[in-house]
Amino acid sequence: MSPEVSDIMRAFEEARDQGLAAVKEATDGHSLEAARIRILGRKAPLSKARAGLGSVPREHVKTLGMLANEVQTEIEQAFAKKARAFGRAERTKRWERERVDVTLPGDVPPAGALHPLTKTIWEIVDIFIGLGYQLAEGPEVELSTLNFDALNQPFEHPSRSTRETYYVAGRDDVVLRPHTSPVQIRAMEAQEPPIYVLAPGRCYRRDELDPTHLNQFAQIEGLAVDDGITMADLKGTLEVFARELFGRDLDVRLRPHFFPFTEPSAELDVECFVCRGSGCRVCKQEGWIEVLGCGMVDPAVLEWVGYDSERYTGFAFGMGVERVAALAHGVPDIRYFYENDLRFLSYFQGAE
Ligand code: PHE
Repeated sequence: MSPEVSDIMRAFEEARDQGLAAVKEATDGHSLEAARIRILGRKAPLSKARAGLGSVPREHVKTLGMLANEVQTEIEQAFAKKARAFGRAERTKRWERERVDVTLPGDVPPAGALHPLTKTIWEIVDIFIGLGYQLAEGPEVELSTLNFDALNQPFEHPSRSTRETYYVAGRDDVVLRPHTSPVQIRAMEAQEPPIYVLAPGRCYRRDELDPTHLNQFAQIEGLAVDDGITMADLKGTLEVFARELFGRDLDVRLRPHFFPFTEPSAELDVECFVCRGSGCRVCKQEGWIEVLGCGMVDPAVLEWVGYDSERYTGFAFGMGVERVAALAHGVPDIRYFYENDLRFLSYFQGAE
């Protein structure tokens, strides 16, 4: 073996050792790739050893060439194998880092909800829509004519005084409506019978604030005018309403009362949902809870809007939304509805 041949063989062996050592030393994908470029690059020992092949006697070229390829392949495979191992390890590490436990409960973002009074209005509206009623509206700033005169309110009635009703400054003919009843007038002025309307809206009264009084509150007015409407229709309608809202098995009663715009007039009581009639704190030992005012529309009101009171009859009712909501949910003070305490409001969340 000529000295050149053994030198070249040694050079290949050294290149192999160096290459395999570099693979072994690499600690991650980056250092491995850097080593690969260095070991298999043009100035690396392997390339230099290959360059020596040119000056080798012919009979040795084949053997040395095979050795060169063998060393090259061995080094390349060692790099590829280690690269795969690093890849696997890095993937595993990343999966570990990015692991998500899908069984953990998520963060529940605070969700908004309808105000309990809005819910109550919608519930009541739904009941009457189901009975064939349509919605009606009127302004909160109302003509005193529609609020009092059209509703047969005697001129000397105390509710006309500025001690009970808010008047627009400097005017004696415009009020903040103290009830939704003027919407009855507006509905009748806008159309001929048959009329079946429900009118929710805000009202204002000069009242002392206490657990059952606010000076701004919501009412829902109902009006039905048609051929042959009787007190029995009023009672039947209100029974359906009260049972839907307060519970199917609660008794209701009409108790005689007085309103200038209805004749006869009554108040609707519902059997106390707490004590069922035996008397308790909620019903003030009455066994019954007053829910709304109602009655047969006074012929004078029908005549005021130009209806033929010989032909048509009707009934009307009006209820305080805060009061009804308080009764339905056992709330002891209607002022809670306007304090916007989230602990109170969230009690109604989801309670449809
Ligand atoms: N408007 C009356 C009130 O506010 C309620 C009512 C409405 C009574 C319709 C009879 C008919 O007290």
